[in-house]
Amino acid sequence: MTRVLVAFATRFGSTREIVSAMVHELNSAGLDAHGVETTSSLNPDDYDAFVIGSPIYGGHWLAAAGMFAAITSERIDGKPVALFSVGTLGVSNWKGAEKEHQDFITGLTEVAPKLNIVSNALFNGYFERSNLPWYLRIVDRFAPTPQGDHRNWQVIKSWTKSLVPKFNG
Ligand SMILES: Cc1cc2nc3c(=O)[nH]c(=O)nc-3n(C[C@H](O)[C@H](O)[C@H](O)COP(=O)(O)O)c2cc1C
Repeated sequence: MTRVLVAFATRFGSTREIVSAMVHELNSAGLDAHGVETTSSLNPDDYDAFVIGSPIYGGHWLAAAGMFAAITSERIDGKPVALFSVGTLGVSNWKGAEKEHQDFITGLTEVAPKLNIVSNALFNGYFERSNLPWYLRIVDRFAPTPQGDHRNWQVIKSWTKSLVPKFNG
């Protein structure tokens, strides 16, 4: 049975719910998937394939997820890796959000060239204005991000399904 680690970071929990949906989808397809935060101690040797993801804050992944991907890249040893980003910029500016996502992946492949990235995806997330610190609430007034849950579960599920043959192969 293919053991899959879905490693993620989150600040407010919306990425954790995305990971739960991914784990459910992978397990329904007969894989043995586990969702674990990158802050936990994780041994890449225990898994055959990896999904690593993070929400985007200020244009970047949360450090814990980026560090996990970079630091474990050698131990992952060429096993398949799928990456995903979550953000809400894409709701109003998909091109800008894609650029943030692709720039992050390009930067990651520069520091971790051994990562065998078989797929990557950007998903719209969940923006809650009250989570902003006061100074960003002021900034947000000038270019407001659409508030609410923008996660598209069908898109998330179908991307996850597309990973199954890449992980089983
Ligand atoms: C302070 C702050 C900064 C953010 N910066 C970005 C950003 O640069 N790009 C983007 O697409 N989304 C941005 N977002 C939206 C988050 O990525 C989105 O709300 C995500 O779903 C949060 O995930 P989490 O609940 O797992 O922490 C920001 C949200 C906050 C509160």
